Amino acid sequence: MKTVITYGTFDMFHIGHLRLIQRLKSYGTRIIVAVSSDDFNRIKGKKVFFPYQQRKEIIANIKGVDLVIPEINWEQKIEDIKKHKVDVFIMGDDWEGKFDFLKEYCEVVYLPRTKNISTSQIKQSINQMRQSNQSKGQA
Ligand code: CTP
Repeated sequence: MKTVITYGTFDMFHIGHLRLIQRLKSYGTRIIVAVSSDDFNRIKGKKVFFPYQQRKEIIANIKGVDLVIPEINWEQKIEDIKKHKVDVFIMGDDWEGKFDFLKEYCEVVYLPRTKNISTSQIKQSINQMRQSNQSKGQA
C-alpha cells in the first residue's frame, strides 16, 4: 500500500482541483489531502470564500480521498510525512522545485496544472460579470 499526500486551499472547488485529486490515485492507494486552514490562508495572504469546515467537507467526500488533515503552517510537512507514513508527496507544478527538500523523506512529484482555471480566475470572472451587469443596468 502506497500513501500519497497533497496540500492546498481548494476554495470554490473546481475542475482543476478535481483532476489533481483524481491523478493522485495513480501514485498510490491511500490518499491524504491537507486543506489549508483559514488562519493559514490569512498567513499566506489568501482570502478565501468558503470556510475551512466546508472546504474540508467537500474534499472528504471526493471519491478516493481517505483522509483530510488541516494544513496550519509551512513547517508541518516533514512531520506529516513521518506520522502518516507518506510515500509520495504531490503538488501542482505551480510549486515546481519548492518542495524538493522533502525528497529526503519520500518521493516528490509535481503534476501539470489543468489549464485555464483557478480560484483566482473564477473570482475575477465573477467580478467582471458583475461590473458588466451593473454597467448594463445603468445604460
Ligand atoms: N491545481 C491544478 N490545476 C488548476 C488549479 C489548481 O492542478 N487549474 C492544483 C494546484 O496546483 C494545487 C491544488 O490544485 O496543487 C490546490 O490548488 P489551489 O491553490 O487551492 O487552487 P487554485 O485554483 O490555484 O487557487 P488560487 O487561484 O487561489 O491560487
